[in-house]
Amino acid sequence: MGAKYRIAVFASGNGSNFQNLLDATRSGELDAEIVLLVCDKPKAFVVERARQAGVECYLFDPKAYARRGDYEAEIAAELDKRQIDLVVLAGYMRLLTSVLVEPYAGRMINIHPSLLPAFPGKNAIGQAWEYGVKVTGVTVHLVDGGMDTGAVVAQAAVEITADDTLETLEAKIHATEGRLYPQVVSWFAKNRVRVEGRKVTILSE
Ligand code: GRF
Repeated sequence: MGAKYRIAVFASGNGSNFQNLLDATRSGELDAEIVLLVCDKPKAFVVERARQAGVECYLFDPKAYARRGDYEAEIAAELDKRQIDLVVLAGYMRLLTSVLVEPYAGRMINIHPSLLPAFPGKNAIGQAWEYGVKVTGVTVHLVDGGMDTGAVVAQAAVEITADDTLETLEAKIHATEGRLYPQVVSWFAKNRVRVEGRKVTILSE
């Protein structure tokens, strides 16, 4: 057996996706190791989750740097040092520059709580709710320099029914994220993902 597939998760907040991915590596659903958490908010709950699990944390304060590219260069060095195979953004609330995007092109993914290209940016669940759509969902996409603009790897639909509230919709979206993200990451770990421009294909096992 070769060495385990090595993942870095970037997160800024609660970290439920981080936790789901971690649990999936423990259950065996995801044959990979979360080697590093990168976080721009030292007080975020995700940091506590990582510490509990013994996952190494790289914490930084963006305000301490003149430019985004400056702290990204330091992050890139941390990723290189650990020979990271895949960067997984999970509620990381910052845009990335080419300093990180270019070296990890095709190896960096994000999860977004809508069916892109509908409702990009912040508060996507609230945007969909206010708009009154009947179907929304979750998208996993490759990361490029834009805001939620990279090629789509997978999507899952979530219906908005008459008895939903914003809170029940949020719960349904998060449950869907919890199923989809570990599955998509495992496709990468098994080298089943092929990218040609915006067309992403998943090879059968
Ligand atoms: C998720 O809804 C994800 O889709 C979005 O940010 C949220 C992060 O939640 N990008 P959590 O920190 O994983 O709980």
